[in-house]
Amino acid sequence: MSVHGGRGERDAVLFFKPGDAARLAAFERQFFPQPWTEDQFRTSLGGRHFLCCGIERNGRLAAYLTATLVAGELEIFNIAVQPEYRRQGLARCLLGDVLHLARETGMTDAFLEVRASNVPALALYACFGFKPQGRRRAYYPDNQEDALVLRRTCGDTGGIERKNRQGATMGMKFLDQMDISGKRILLRVDYNVPLEGGRITDDLRIRASLPTVRYALDKGASLVMCSHLGKAKGKPDPKYSLAPAAARLSELIGRPVAMAPDCIGPEVEKMVAALKPGEVLMLENLRFHDGEEKNDPEFAKAMAAYGDLFVNDAFGTAHRPHASMVGFPKYAKAACAGFLLKKEWEYLGQAMEKPARPFVAVSGGAKVSSKLGVLKNLLAKVDRMVIGGAMANTFVAAQGFQVGASLVEPDLYEEAKSILALARDRKVSVYLPVDFAVSMDVGKPLGEMKPAGVFPYQDIPAEGMILDIGPTTARLFAQVLAPAKTVLWNGPMGAFENPDFAEGSLSIARALADLDAVTVVGGGDTDVVVHKAGLADRMTFISTGGGASMEFLEGKELPAFKALKEC
Ligand code: 3PG
Ligand code: MG
Repeated sequence: MSVHGGRGERDAVLFFKPGDAARLAAFERQFFPQPWTEDQFRTSLGGRHFLCCGIERNGRLAAYLTATLVAGELEIFNIAVQPEYRRQGLARCLLGDVLHLARETGMTDAFLEVRASNVPALALYACFGFKPQGRRRAYYPDNQEDALVLRRTCGDTGGIERKNRQGATMGMKFLDQMDISGKRILLRVDYNVPLEGGRITDDLRIRASLPTVRYALDKGASLVMCSHLGKAKGKPDPKYSLAPAAARLSELIGRPVAMAPDCIGPEVEKMVAALKPGEVLMLENLRFHDGEEKNDPEFAKAMAAYGDLFVNDAFGTAHRPHASMVGFPKYAKAACAGFLLKKEWEYLGQAMEKPARPFVAVSGGAKVSSKLGVLKNLLAKVDRMVIGGAMANTFVAAQGFQVGASLVEPDLYEEAKSILALARDRKVSVYLPVDFAVSMDVGKPLGEMKPAGVFPYQDIPAEGMILDIGPTTARLFAQVLAPAKTVLWNGPMGAFENPDFAEGSLSIARALADLDAVTVVGGGDTDVVVHKAGLADRMTFISTGGGASMEFLEGKELPAFKALKEC
């Protein structure tokens, strides 16, 4: 109940439950042109990441606040106060409690939208350290008014020092903490994008860099951008030129992106020196020089000198101890992480540390050997684990069943058993496939293999090769996922490159798309599956890292993060 009254006494903030849905809906009808229904409140209040709290006066609701706590971020939707209780500090009280709660639960940032003309609200948010981050033109349908997007960090230290997954402090600076106006920024991105005949077939990584690129340009900085592409072995190779990526970036940002003939040398230096605020120069592939992979200090020093500031936003490469990851921050005048690096850290790190529960991990892919570290690390965090892909064969075989001519790692049977034992100790339920799609065309290339039928796990034919999970398993896995509030999916369920064996993987993508949960998808093959299913937009976050996301999920400290902390 509320405790209120005269000055000096603090109002008690009540946190609402599904049973409060009717009174909340009634309150909303008074204030908002499109109020939520009672049902919407009931469902949302039953979920883990919706939050609604309020203050009562004289037995009625006097003020309330709604917000979500998702993947490290607190988003405040509404704060409303009954007219007779305005100017009494109720909104301040609610906001203070919710920001406190957000900090306690490990949220990194808080943000909201507010009408640009709402001066009292702007003043209140400014008191709490919210800063304008952007403007949405004609955002409110009633009067076409602009919205301001306000943001602040949740940590006591303004976000500079936060706990990371291993409990060490993050100690890394982020782009929004730097003064960049009129500065020249050396920006490392990961534009290692798939190309077919010079055409980019998936531009996710380029689009993922746009928040950083746009922010820097909006603030009046100039950009010297660099990346690697493919396995250029220390010498120029036109098939690995970054020119197609520069062209795509130019289309996306609607400004010219000049292309340099190389990444070092006098000609490049001249182009760099001539850059004006708001201009973008893309350097040629870093791996055309072996100094990149060798982390040669001379190479790193020469390139670090291009910018007043070095910004690393190349999450996909964060696991490589190359010059642009560890040498540039060391020699640059100043260095920080871009918004993609931050986002990956939040989703793959923070969201996994403080997940809304139940938290289910779906692991697939070919080999147990490459996933051991991830499986073990995740067992300490998840409530349920689903295992599919060829990796499941090893688990099935380790329990004494025949897997015919399927891909299997006999030297890992003991490891597989110990993972299952560890799961039992941790009270994590592990779900393995109960049926499989099998082909008899062993020895043929994957594209020519045809399905021979679906077989239960205890009945795999001796000449058969498991290439996908079966339909019963797909249904089982969807049921296991149904109550989830956080899902991490890493690795396909079968040999999805052959459409005859893609159904298992696609079924997981569909199951995730239907959930009201935070869904985080690992990069690489899993990203390809989600795109094939046409469901990329329905996932909360898709990592841009393949190897990098795996190593991050193993709990390893990635060289790029380490270097940014130490610089
Ligand atoms: C990737 O695509 O995995 C990253 O861009 C790193 O590339 P690499 O595997 O060639 O180092
Ligand atoms: Mg790779």
